[in-house]
Amino acid sequence: MELIKTLDGSYTLKHLHFNETYHSIFGARTETMYIFVNNVSPLIDVKDVVKIFEVGFGTGFNTLLTCVNLPHLNIYYETIENNILPDELLQKFKATLPYEEQNIYEKIIKAQWNSVELINSNFKIYKVNADIKNYSFLDNFHYVFYDMFSPNVQPDVWTFEIFKKIYDALYKNGVLLTYTSKGQVKRILNEAGFKVQRLMGPPGKRHFIRAVKI
Ligand SMILES: C[S@@+](CC[C@H](N)C(=O)[O-])C[C@H]1O[C@@H](n2cnc3c(N)ncnc32)[C@H](O)[C@@H]1O
Repeated sequence: MELIKTLDGSYTLKHLHFNETYHSIFGARTETMYIFVNNVSPLIDVKDVVKIFEVGFGTGFNTLLTCVNLPHLNIYYETIENNILPDELLQKFKATLPYEEQNIYEKIIKAQWNSVELINSNFKIYKVNADIKNYSFLDNFHYVFYDMFSPNVQPDVWTFEIFKKIYDALYKNGVLLTYTSKGQVKRILNEAGFKVQRLMGPPGKRHFIRAVKI
């Protein structure tokens, strides 16, 4: 695993076996904000708990940016990962973050697996160490951040079975967000019942997918 600097100055990891990065090389921070964080509606009433499920915790960078950029929301964040990164690597990633984000990042990566933990007064996290292919959702969600390696290298996690399971776990009007806009992914999401929108992407990416449970 290799730490690399992306075009907006933020860092990501490169998975040497899949030869893919954890985030966009055109800007890791820009991509996460553009595709995931900025698509969580600011119109939600602060009294309501917003439930987000992230598929692929990885470095915890998406989790961090959700936590620090949506402080006005009361968030329950569940995330699944089947290949937990070693602490040594996460500490190296932490050192690339702006100083003011490092404390909260430390809390996120140190939060126990398989237990609900409080990161701050309006951000609860539940990190599940499991495989999405066998996972049975215990809860319902407003948003799913689908952040797996690409269908080219991991076709087994872009399947009808997984997307149907996610569809069933979402509330009505719930939204799945993912960085790819591959025709094959759109088709499977459609088959699973989603209304699929292809939206303009961040730098380096023409489109991304926003799929709604109607
Ligand atoms: C593209 S990276 C995601 C990056 C992550 N969101 C972040 O902010 O660092 C994909 C992640 O999904 C994990 N993953 C791959 N297959 C999985 C599976 N079947 N179940 C759970 N996690 C999986 C990988 O180990 C990797 O950490």
